Amino acid sequence: MALRNIRTIGDEVLQKECKPVKEVTERIHELINDMLETMYEADGVGLAAPQVGILKRIVTIDVGEGPIVLINPEILETSGSQTGNEGCLSVPGKFGIVTRPDYAKVKAVNEDMEEFVLEGTGLLARAICHECDHLDGRLYVELVEGELEDVAAQDEEE
Ligand code: NI
Repeated sequence: MALRNIRTIGDEVLQKECKPVKEVTERIHELINDMLETMYEADGVGLAAPQVGILKRIVTIDVGEGPIVLINPEILETSGSQTGNEGCLSVPGKFGIVTRPDYAKVKAVNEDMEEFVLEGTGLLARAICHECDHLDGRLYVELVEGELEDVAAQDEEE
């Protein structure tokens, strides 16, 4: 396993449409392991493959309940809404207020290419939506209500 460089906003790889995974090769297993390691090292709750420069439809998520790997995820259903702070490892030191669904149901395949369905509420729903957006070249900054804020400034206020 190895840490990968996280691409940051302005890098055009973050604006591209990712391609579906057709076969989980040894390189894909390695990529997924590296993404998990990179996500944990950076203290993130989610990471999408384009954030490490790979244009494939793979995301990793951990909202504190263990690692989740979604390959070729497809959101089937969303409902409700939640408004709250959101950040992204590709937009370091910033956060902003984003409204997202409060429930998301997603279909994906695992590393054995077996299909499964995952349902999430709250933070998990937010993470699913945020990470799936990355696969279509979308960043949360497009959805921010008001201004992007500095994490450091918030710490000073508290
Ligand atoms: Ni992100």
